[in-house]
Amino acid sequence: MEKGVDRGQGRSYRGVLARVGPGRDTWRWLGQQLFNRENPAMYFDPLLESINPLWAQRYIPARVEAIESETHDSKTLTLRPARRWGGFRAGQHLNLEVEKDGRWYSRPFSLSCSPSHWEQDGTITVTIKKVADGEITPWLLEHFEPGDVIGISRAYGEDHTPEPGHPMLFVTGGSGITPVLSQLEAMADRHLRNPVTLLYFVRTDADIIGGRKLEALAERLPNLELRIVAAEQDPQNPDHLGPHHLQAVEGLTERDCFLCGPPGLMKHAQNLLADAGVPDEQISSTLFAVGPGVVVTEDAGGTVHFSRSDITVESAGDRRLLEEAEAAGLNPRYGCRMGICHQCACRKKSGIVVNQQTGQPSGHGEETVQLCISVPQGAVELEL
Ligand code: FES
Repeated sequence: MEKGVDRGQGRSYRGVLARVGPGRDTWRWLGQQLFNRENPAMYFDPLLESINPLWAQRYIPARVEAIESETHDSKTLTLRPARRWGGFRAGQHLNLEVEKDGRWYSRPFSLSCSPSHWEQDGTITVTIKKVADGEITPWLLEHFEPGDVIGISRAYGEDHTPEPGHPMLFVTGGSGITPVLSQLEAMADRHLRNPVTLLYFVRTDADIIGGRKLEALAERLPNLELRIVAAEQDPQNPDHLGPHHLQAVEGLTERDCFLCGPPGLMKHAQNLLADAGVPDEQISSTLFAVGPGVVVTEDAGGTVHFSRSDITVESAGDRRLLEEAEAAGLNPRYGCRMGICHQCACRKKSGIVVNQQTGQPSGHGEETVQLCISVPQGAVELEL
C-alpha cells in the first residue's frame, strides 16, 4: 500500500464567490472563511496559480527540472522548489502533493541528495519507486515532465547527518536506499573519512536504485565499502540478510548502524545486530520505512467537537482524528501522517484520545496530541 491518504476535493475561489453573490455580506462571509483557515492565502490558490504556478500557497511549488530513470519501476526527479521551501537535513523526507482527477493526494518520499544541492543551486532530488497496485506512484512516474510544477511539503523526519569519525554500517533494501544516498553524499561533501560499509539488498542487479550515484560516491569516499547483494542471483543467500553478512563487517560492534528498507529486512537486521552484540543506542532506523504499528483500541469512537470551527462529528473510532477532521471539511496542518514530524500537533481541550502506535491513552485534560496517530475514546474537544 502507498502511504498517505486522499486530501479531499479542492475548492474553487471563483465558484464560492459566484455562489454567495456580491455585496457586503459576501465580503463579511469571505472574511469569516479566511479567518477560520490556518493559511488564508491558500483560498486564493486558483487565482494565484492561474497567474504563476509557483505562487500557490496550499503547497510549496517545485518545478520539475529533470527526470532520470533508475530502474524499470523507479525514477529520480530533480526539483527546484520555490525559495520559501526552507531546505532539509540528510536522511529527511517530504510529501509530494498532487492533484489527480480533481482530488488532492499526499505521498511521502525520501530526499535522495545531499543538502548541498539545495544550498548551492537550489535543487533537490526525490526518487520514486512504483508501488505495483498503488493509486498514485504509477501515475506520478508517467504524468510529470520537465517544466511541470509539482507540490511539495516542508522536509521532516530525524536529522541523520553523519558525524565525523564514527565507523558506520548501513543496511538497506529496495527503495530504502534513498535516504542513505542523501547521507553518503552529505559525507562526501564534507570530506568525511569514516569507515563506512553499505549492505544493500536488491532482488536482481536490474533493481539497483542509485547505481550511478553509488559508483560516483565510491570514488569520493575512499573508506566506503559497497556490498550490493542481489538476493535472487545468489544461491548461497536465499534469505537475503544473514549473520555471515554482518560477521564480515570489520569492527561491527563499534559501528553506528542505520537501517532503512522493507519492514521484514529491518526487523531481521535489528535482531541480528543485537545478537552480534551491537548496543541498542548504536542502531537507528528511519521510521519512514518501518511504518507505524497499529494497536487495536477497544472503546474507540465518540463525539469529536472541533471548537474553533464549531463542527461536531461522530467518530466510529475507525479513523484517526486527522482523517476525521479532513472528512469534516477542515484543513489541519500535517506532514508525514505517520507520527514522525509532529506537524499535526493540536491542542486537545478535553476528553481522552488513544495513540494508535503505542496503545497509550492520553489524560482527560488539556494537552497537545498528534492528530495523525490518535483516535478518540469517548467525547473529545479539539482546538481546531
Ligand atoms: S503528520 Fe507528522 S506526526 Fe502527524
